[in-house]
Amino acid sequence: MSLSEQVWGAVTADTATLTRYYRWHARLYDATRWSFLFGRTALIRAIAADSQPRRILEIGCGTGSNLLYLHRQFPDAAITGLDLSADMLAQARRKLATHPAWGQRIKLIQWRYDQALNREPGFDLIVFSYCLSMINPGWEQALEAARRDLQPGGRLAVVDFHDSRFAGFRRWMGVNHVRMDGHLLPRLTALCPPVTQSLHNAYGGGWRYFQFIGQKPGG
Ligand SMILES: C[S@@+](CC[C@H](N)C(=O)[O-])C[C@H]1O[C@@H](n2cnc3c(N)ncnc32)[C@H](O)[C@@H]1O
Repeated sequence: MSLSEQVWGAVTADTATLTRYYRWHARLYDATRWSFLFGRTALIRAIAADSQPRRILEIGCGTGSNLLYLHRQFPDAAITGLDLSADMLAQARRKLATHPAWGQRIKLIQWRYDQALNREPGFDLIVFSYCLSMINPGWEQALEAARRDLQPGGRLAVVDFHDSRFAGFRRWMGVNHVRMDGHLLPRLTALCPPVTQSLHNAYGGGWRYFQFIGQKPGG
């Protein structure tokens, strides 16, 4: 076992573990996460400044807030939200039910994303928002699946935790199934040449998060 595997073994979470975790957190999610999941709406605004996607997939859509914001930015797009947690999707469904137009444009799927959804690439935008850092193990497979699901020329957009210089904080995030050791950005830039990427400090440097928009080669 490598040193990295020993250190990050603590954060690994299978489907059952994450399902249990979100059974409780789903109820508090929207009321609490605004205070530390930074950069989500800014990412979607940056996508809108760069492209006009028509078929959008969000992996790990959770309670659906990004789906609604994506719908607001891209009202003609067909949007799919996918998540492994029935409890998170139930919250999303509740939101969509408040507006008939949302239900028509936004489809929800319960699934653990570890392989491509379709045989042929079906999306011109795939979004991961604070999801990849929780796919441990399997984030490489999820990215490879997204590469397959993305049309040539399509955009891969990611906002997520990057790192923290505080070991205690990293360990606490590990207890919450989040890996933050700067592992995502190098793989993303290798997979899809960046259109934009940026690193940001949260709470005066308590941790850093990143925003990334890359373009799949071809198209
Ligand atoms: C921190 S939440 C982010 C939710 C939403 N994207 C946001 O920005 O608020 C992470 C979500 O990813 C989901 N998730 C984690 N691993 C997943 C996987 N392999 N496939 C699908 N969903 C996954 C979790 O169930 C959870 O709802």
